[in-house]
Amino acid sequence: MSLADRVVIVTGGAQGIGYAICEAAVARGASVVVADRASADTAAGKLAAGGGQALGVTADVSVESDVDAMVAATLDRFGRIDALVNNAGVYSTLELKPFEQLSLADWRRVLDVNVIGIFLCCRAVLPAFESQGGGRIVNVASGVAFKGNPNMLHYVASKGAVVSMTRSLATELGPRGVLVNSVAPGLTLSEGLLANPALAGGVKDFAVRTRAIKRDMYPTDLVGAVLFFIADDAAFITGQTLVVDGGAYYH
Ligand SMILES: NC(=O)c1ccc[n+]([C@@H]2O[C@H](COP(=O)([O-])OP(=O)(O)OC[C@H]3O[C@@H](n4cnc5c(N)ncnc54)[C@H](O)[C@@H]3O)[C@@H](O)[C@H]2O)c1
Repeated sequence: MSLADRVVIVTGGAQGIGYAICEAAVARGASVVVADRASADTAAGKLAAGGGQALGVTADVSVESDVDAMVAATLDRFGRIDALVNNAGVYSTLELKPFEQLSLADWRRVLDVNVIGIFLCCRAVLPAFESQGGGRIVNVASGVAFKGNPNMLHYVASKGAVVSMTRSLATELGPRGVLVNSVAPGLTLSEGLLANPALAGGVKDFAVRTRAIKRDMYPTDLVGAVLFFIADDAAFITGQTLVVDGGAYYH
């Protein structure tokens, strides 16, 4: 799956799943924009030190002006955008709580980034996609959208929205040459998750037990699916969500 000459924006690309996607895209020849609200330059520097084409852009995906600046910086440096990976999300900092203990502020923080952030990013890249005759969008959803996990209702709702938005955007944008798909990871030992033992500890062993493939999932386990949706191989696939979880949920 060569991505030579493709320009790929990865939101939340500075660590965890996002960084693994950046590394793999660069290894396949893509130029990558690491867009993150923190450590974007450091991550891009690491990729560039390994010989890749990478640009770091500090951007919060829930802030309209940041997202517009992210797209402008990408076009300024690389002249085009071929793919957007909407990976940035509030997950690893979540506190598990019964739904009735969630505040409005909890809800808004999650929906602002996980749902509205995707809207803002998709809208911002569209003019470039249209002027080039098409593009690819890959959204990072989650297996929780299908499994209905407890104690994170706002997060589960946000990832359900990602699956639905993928379908609706695919229908709207197909005639304009833009393909939109999602990946839905299972519990993944990203840097963020490992830094929150309260979250990881509660679910890690359960996740392995309930998988057909009895081992932990790492960020690198997801990258093949994401790059597939960006590459020529997926030129007739849109609106789909591919669950990548070692066989815990069959979608
Ligand atoms: N780790 C898991 O078990 C798991 C499972 C399913 C889905 N996901 C999803 O995968 C994605 C990545 O998760 P991860 O586990 O790698 O997390 P992580 O915490 O390791 O990394 C998330 C990255 O996103 C950035 N980010 C957060 N909010 C942002 C914002 N508003 N704007 C820009 N950047 C922002 C962070 O700075 C960080 O670099 C998320 O969408 C998450 O919901 C994770």
